[in-house]
Amino acid sequence: MLVTSRSYAEYEAMFDLSELPDSILDCCAGGSSFTAEAAARGVDAVAVDQAYELPMPELVDTVRRSLPAGAQIVDAHASSFVWNWYGDPTRKDEMRIEAADRFLQDVSLAPDRYVAGTLPELPFEDGRFDLVLCSHLLFTWADTFDRDWHLAALEELVRVSRSEVRIFPLVQQGAGEPVLYLQELLDALQPVRSEIRKVPYEFQVGADQMLVLNHQ
Ligand SMILES: C[S@@+](CC[C@H](N)C(=O)[O-])C[C@H]1O[C@@H](n2cnc3c(N)ncnc32)[C@H](O)[C@@H]1O
Repeated sequence: MLVTSRSYAEYEAMFDLSELPDSILDCCAGGSSFTAEAAARGVDAVAVDQAYELPMPELVDTVRRSLPAGAQIVDAHASSFVWNWYGDPTRKDEMRIEAADRFLQDVSLAPDRYVAGTLPELPFEDGRFDLVLCSHLLFTWADTFDRDWHLAALEELVRVSRSEVRIFPLVQQGAGEPVLYLQELLDALQPVRSEIRKVPYEFQVGADQMLVLNHQ
């Protein structure tokens, strides 16, 4: 699996973020600069990812190698992507390179923000974060993780959030097939309230919705 590097601007659009709460977890953050950029805005921001177990040189190498590999997935499924949000491939590549640079710089400067952990068991107490974000892991990699893993992962994301979890996208990577057991998962999660909400971002055709889970 790729350790991709989406930027704060991409997260802002994918998760339709406006005002940020006091604490946010990015799970699983990979090489994203969201945590660095949210921390710079005064948020208690933490990133968790299994890739953070890697020694630093390997993590750097993995993040750097994922940049062209991500672009290749898009090339291989060109008709499944639209460019309204990015403008063109050059701008997208520039954003991802800037995000990877910012991530790698922040990991060195503030390593405590980057926690090694593997879903569906996260090393945080119940309700540790006001908001938990999950970009391009659940549903995206439904060819790798099955329904039971997804349910356990959703329950864990809910456990570590104080009130809200947002997940994007709701389709699989590549051609963007839907995940057929999504409704079954939402039914199994009750009494957690779920809502599928449109967002101001689309890259994979039709992938312009996030899942919002709310509980108290
Ligand atoms: C496609 S990347 C997404 C990274 C980032 N959220 C973004 O949008 O650019 C998926 C990330 O999930 C991490 N990952 C995969 N399986 C995981 C698991 N079971 N627990 C924790 N992290 C996992 C990978 O290491 C990778 O960094």
